[in-house]
Amino acid sequence: MTTPAWTPEPPAAEPAEVRRRHAANRVAWNEAAQRYSEGLPEAIAELRAGRSSVHPVERAALGDLAPWCRRAIHLQCASGRDTLSLLLEGAQEVVGVDISEVQVANARATAAAIGAPARFHHCDVLDTPHSLDGTADLVYTGRGALCWIHDLAAWAHVVARLLRPGGVVSVFDDHPAGWLFDQDAAEPVASGVDYFGHAESNVGWPTTYIGELDVPPSTKHERLWPIGDVVQALIDAGLTITRLEERPDEYWTVFPAMPEELRRRIPMTFLLHARRPA
Ligand SMILES: C[S@@+](CC[C@H](N)C(=O)[O-])C[C@H]1O[C@@H](n2cnc3c(N)ncnc32)[C@H](O)[C@@H]1O
Repeated sequence: MTTPAWTPEPPAAEPAEVRRRHAANRVAWNEAAQRYSEGLPEAIAELRAGRSSVHPVERAALGDLAPWCRRAIHLQCASGRDTLSLLLEGAQEVVGVDISEVQVANARATAAAIGAPARFHHCDVLDTPHSLDGTADLVYTGRGALCWIHDLAAWAHVVARLLRPGGVVSVFDDHPAGWLFDQDAAEPVASGVDYFGHAESNVGWPTTYIGELDVPPSTKHERLWPIGDVVQALIDAGLTITRLEERPDEYWTVFPAMPEELRRRIPMTFLLHARRPA
């Protein structure tokens, strides 16, 4: 399989339906975490060597974290490589949150292996512990995060409550425009996905990302969030947008058959910063 099957699905309007989809995603991510588990030795070696996996686009915008970031909270931290990289970028301590217990176990094992000042919480991002409220100089998330969240308003309120006054959220994630094109095509070909249709049900993982697993993949629920919805959710949660960039930069190969010269005509990612007013 190269391209997952996309099936239009109505947005999850009810909290119970949001939770049902998040629970299904937890199962799917516990399976997909196999790929991350396989990569743990490499992640540990890279972190030990002082090599950060923070994306250059994120680094250029955030700068050196040392002067201003005591605590960074990474929402949807996966196996913790990016979380622990924030220490290399200058954060004094890091906290990770992820719904997959396999990912969180990996993250804890990686932190222990390098002796890092890190804590990891296994929970839905919507249930991030209130003990963390108002403590984050930086809330960091992205690179495949928002598509798994089925209540963007609730997500934005979690981000806002975690930030200390003056704190910043950084989101560097897939640009929704990428969903509009066939992932297998050698040139931009319409996929038929409705940009405003919001929800997509999806079984299977792209070859260039998770690929084939040892078990048949469970149903998971990814959702296309238009950029305007992401921005508005953060504004509605009381944050001030300070940066919005649409970028051709990739962090995974979405269109493996498409020459770079064509891929770079499509917005692949976006970078968004917002600040909690002081
Ligand atoms: C693509 S990964 C995150 C990308 C990360 N930058 C990395 O290291 O690859 C998506 C992560 O989101 C987590 N996730 C999905 N839904 C979640 C939810 N509702 N709450 C918390 N974590 C969630 C998954 O378990 C998975 O680890």
